[in-house]
Amino acid sequence: MEKHFCLDDSPVFRMIELDEVDSTNNFLRRFGAPGDRRMTLVTTEFQSAGRGAATNKWESARGENLLFSLRVMPTALPIRRMFAISEAAALAVKAALDAFVPGFSVKWPNDIYFGDSKVAGILIENDLQGSQVLRSTIGIGINVNQRRFLSDAPNPRSLADIAGHDVERRFVLEQFMEHFTSLLRKIENGNTAALDAVHEAYKSGLYRSGEEHEYADEMGTFYAKIVDVEPSGHILLCDKEGLLRRYEFKELKYIL
Ligand code: BTN
Repeated sequence: MEKHFCLDDSPVFRMIELDEVDSTNNFLRRFGAPGDRRMTLVTTEFQSAGRGAATNKWESARGENLLFSLRVMPTALPIRRMFAISEAAALAVKAALDAFVPGFSVKWPNDIYFGDSKVAGILIENDLQGSQVLRSTIGIGINVNQRRFLSDAPNPRSLADIAGHDVERRFVLEQFMEHFTSLLRKIENGNTAALDAVHEAYKSGLYRSGEEHEYADEMGTFYAKIVDVEPSGHILLCDKEGLLRRYEFKELKYIL
């Protein structure tokens, strides 16, 4: 029997479906009482100000793709392991897409690729309290049925283009929720072994891992191999001269 996450409201889960909003991340960060612990999912058909990483915009044609944000309050997730949320979200998107066509990969830190094309992006905003993550807003855009992209993003592609047919968006969302909630249970409650297992799974699906490719940092371009990602989210590359280079998100650019 195939299981699917049930998107119906319950005491622990709430779903809000909007026709249009500025950004589902912005909406969720405005919505609800501060102590509200219910996992909340907001979806929309169109974003007028969809946000990508850094200052980028997120392009998505009305009604063709998945645009959603999920707010969770993880139990006892230390700040030093908060990259696990990013890993869980990326792994869950990858698994949801692999269910249609196997072969998706995660481009560090959390883009979802098929070959050299970007199919999904993730924008995570964490609120911290003391030494722990209080609340995480996980915004996800998955190119599901859009065939033509107008922005100057270098390499967008959709699941439908890869699969060769249109895809039911709700089914992809259910698949994502099922995988993500299962991974979230693992990374909560200070379970280091489970956190480490999710981290290993993340590293095993990485785009370009172990192959030599061109990258750029503030000093210029160079050829290197990805050799590791630390639990903190820092990436390690070994360049052609044998130098080990360590980067935070935004300090490293992939040359595609
Ligand atoms: C990236 O640049 O790769 C991250 C893109 C994240 C886009 C999603 S779409 C739903 C949510 N709302 C936003 O404004 N952004 C995220």
